[in-house]
Amino acid sequence: MADVAFYKVRFEPVGVEMDVAEGETVLDAAFRQGISVMHGCKEGQCSSCKSRLIDGEIELQKYSTFALSDAERDSDHILLCKTLAYSDLTIELLNYDEDMLSRSIAVKDFAGGVTAVEALTHDIRKLTITLDAPLRFWAGQYVDLTISGAGITRAYSMGNAPTGGNTLEFIIKKYPDGAFSALLDGSLSPGDAVVARGPFGTCFRREGRSGALILVGGGSGMSPLWSILRDHIASGEQRPVRFFYGARSRRDLFLLDAFAGFTKNLVDFQFIPALSNATPEDAWEGETGFIHDVVERTMRAQQLDGQIDAYSCGPPPMIDAVLPVLQRAGIEPDRIYFDKFTTATH
Ligand SMILES: Cc1cc2nc3c(=O)[nH]c(=O)nc-3n(C[C@H](O)[C@H](O)[C@H](O)COP(=O)(O)OP(=O)(O)OC[C@H]3O[C@@H](n4cnc5c(N)ncnc54)[C@H](O)[C@@H]3O)c2cc1C
Ligand code: FES
Repeated sequence: MADVAFYKVRFEPVGVEMDVAEGETVLDAAFRQGISVMHGCKEGQCSSCKSRLIDGEIELQKYSTFALSDAERDSDHILLCKTLAYSDLTIELLNYDEDMLSRSIAVKDFAGGVTAVEALTHDIRKLTITLDAPLRFWAGQYVDLTISGAGITRAYSMGNAPTGGNTLEFIIKKYPDGAFSALLDGSLSPGDAVVARGPFGTCFRREGRSGALILVGGGSGMSPLWSILRDHIASGEQRPVRFFYGARSRRDLFLLDAFAGFTKNLVDFQFIPALSNATPEDAWEGETGFIHDVVERTMRAQQLDGQIDAYSCGPPPMIDAVLPVLQRAGIEPDRIYFDKFTTATH
C-alpha cells in the first residue's frame, strides 16, 4: 500500500471531509471511514448516490444511464459509487439528512453460518444466519451476503429488528435461474459458511416522529419493511401505521397471522394487501390492482393528519410508480425513503 496515493474529499454543504485512495470509489471510501452519504445499490443502477462535482479530476466507472443520464453527466453530476478520484475533490451532496449523517455505522465483514432456510410461500424463503459477532444496523438496512462455498454475493435487507444479537433474518424471493436465490431450495444447509458485509443503506427507520408511518412493499420488499415495522412496535412510539403490500395472487401472501395480530392489538394499524392477478379460486374480497393505485385511493380517502414518513422497498418499477403517488399525497420528498431492489451486475 506504500505507493497508493490518497486524495482529500470535501462534501458540501455539510463540510464533512475524508480521504479516498487511488482506485477506491468515493462511496467505498465513505463506508471505510464510517461516513454515511446517500446510497442504494452501490452498483451504478439506482441513482440514489447522485451528487455534483464542484471541483477536481475524476473518472466514472461503468454505470447505467437510468441512474445518470448523459445530460446529467454533462452538467457535472456523478455517481459516488462509480467515482474514482485523480485529485482532491469537492462534491455537493444533493440528498442528505442530519439523521443519516449522525447514524453512520462503519462497514465491516462478519463471518458466520446458515442456521435455517424456511418456505414462507411457493417462492419466498426465510433465511436465518448466525454471525460470530453482532452486526449493528438500523431497521431497514441491508448487507452484502456471500455464500462462501459458492463464491456468490448479493444484497439482502435484514427482516428482523435490530436487537444487538448475532442472528440475522432475510426474506428472499427465489428466481429459477437466480445465482443466489435458487440455492435456497436444497443447496444451502445449516452450517454452510457465509460472510455478511455491512451495514449498508439509507432507507432505515427515522425515530422520534409522530405523524403517520406509511410502508409500501411488493414481493421480497417485505424484508426491510417488516424490520422497520417490528422496530417501530418495539420502540413503543405511537403513530398511525398503513402497511401496503402488493402481490399477484393469494398464494403470494404470507405473515398474515402476524398482521392480523397487529391489527387487533395496535392502535390505528392497517395492513392493506392488494392482489394484481387474483384468481376466482382466491375468492378475494380485499383490494385489487397495482399497489401504487391502491396507495393513491387509500391516501385520498383517509386524509391522514400530521407530517407523514413513507418507506418503500421492492422491484424498481414498483418504486418508480409509488414515489409520485406518495408525493401527490402531500408527503415531503425528504420524508420518503426507498430501496430499489436492482439486480446485481456481476
Ligand atoms: C439494496 C438492495 C436490497 C435488496 N434486498 C433484497 C431482499 O431483502 N430480498 C430479496 O429477495 N432480494 C433483495 N435484493 C435483490 C437481491 O440482491 C438479488 O438481486 C436477487 O435476490 C436476485 O439475485 P439472484 O442471484 O438470485 O439472481 P441473478 O442471478 O442475479 O439473476 C438471475 C435472473 O433472475 C431474474 N431476476 C433476478 N432478480 C430479479 C428481479 N428483481 N426482478 C425480476 N427478475 C429478477 C432475472 O431473470 C435474472 O436474469 C436487494 C437488492 C438491493 C440492491
Ligand atoms: S447508483 Fe450509486 S448507489 Fe445506486
